[in-house]
Amino acid sequence: MAAHAPDKPKTRSAGRANRQPRAAPLQPPGLQPTAMDIAGLRKHSVIFEALSDEEAANLMQLARMVNHQARHTIFQEGEPGDHLLVVMHGRVKVSLVSPEGKEAILSILEAGDVFGEMALLDGGPRSATVTTMEKCSFLVIWRRDFLPFLERNPQVTLKLLAALSKRLRATNDMVGGLSFLNLPARLARILINLGQQYGKVTGDGIVIGIKLSQEELGNLVGVSRESVNRQIRVWVESGVLDYSHGTIILKNSDLLFRESLNTGG
Ligand code: CMP
Repeated sequence: MAAHAPDKPKTRSAGRANRQPRAAPLQPPGLQPTAMDIAGLRKHSVIFEALSDEEAANLMQLARMVNHQARHTIFQEGEPGDHLLVVMHGRVKVSLVSPEGKEAILSILEAGDVFGEMALLDGGPRSATVTTMEKCSFLVIWRRDFLPFLERNPQVTLKLLAALSKRLRATNDMVGGLSFLNLPARLARILINLGQQYGKVTGDGIVIGIKLSQEELGNLVGVSRESVNRQIRVWVESGVLDYSHGTIILKNSDLLFRESLNTGG
């Protein structure tokens, strides 16, 4: 989905200097993906969908499964990284955090999505912080296993490149939005994206199946919680949406769509 940075430019190197390398998570004994987990990955994960049953089983042999509670930091920007993770259940947010603790959410990832591939592939530090938004489980695959696996399976490399290109497009959209759009347009874009990704059409409107605080919405749009609050209140009062305890219902998505194209002021 679209990604966003905060209002102010920030220096992250200070925060990065204090971070300690963290060990890769260990697999609790006996934790194994079920047949349904594997079937889900075969359908929704760029790494698994291009594989035959046998190749998928081979890759599974190299992977470990880990579970984490909500709000657990999987890793922080700046840490070294030698493994990637595939989301099996739950959602994570990918964010940048300034030394003052201000957060910019770049993306929200869900089942089938892969993260941690950048440090694995280029050997550089983690480019962002990843935190669970709810209870999650992941497959962990290490560089020493994954690179030879990619060499044996060029079709997986192509899928991965396509997924990275899609991510870059979303980031370009975000940068364009920050540069050219006013707050209502940016917020409208985020809400439409969330509606497309997580929305369910009901008699009340499009219910976004992911709870987001106004602070998190601000961190997605790149503005303060107060600015988001003011705009949400305007839209709630004019019947464009409902917002209650983190659940958003889009009631007039046509208007939001028109708003998202508004490049004025
Ligand atoms: P890595 O740099 O190893 O660790 C942080 C991960 O966050 C990164 O790999 C990607 O998987 C993911 N990530 C970084 N930037 C973005 C972005 N703009 N959109 C989506 N995911 C990202």
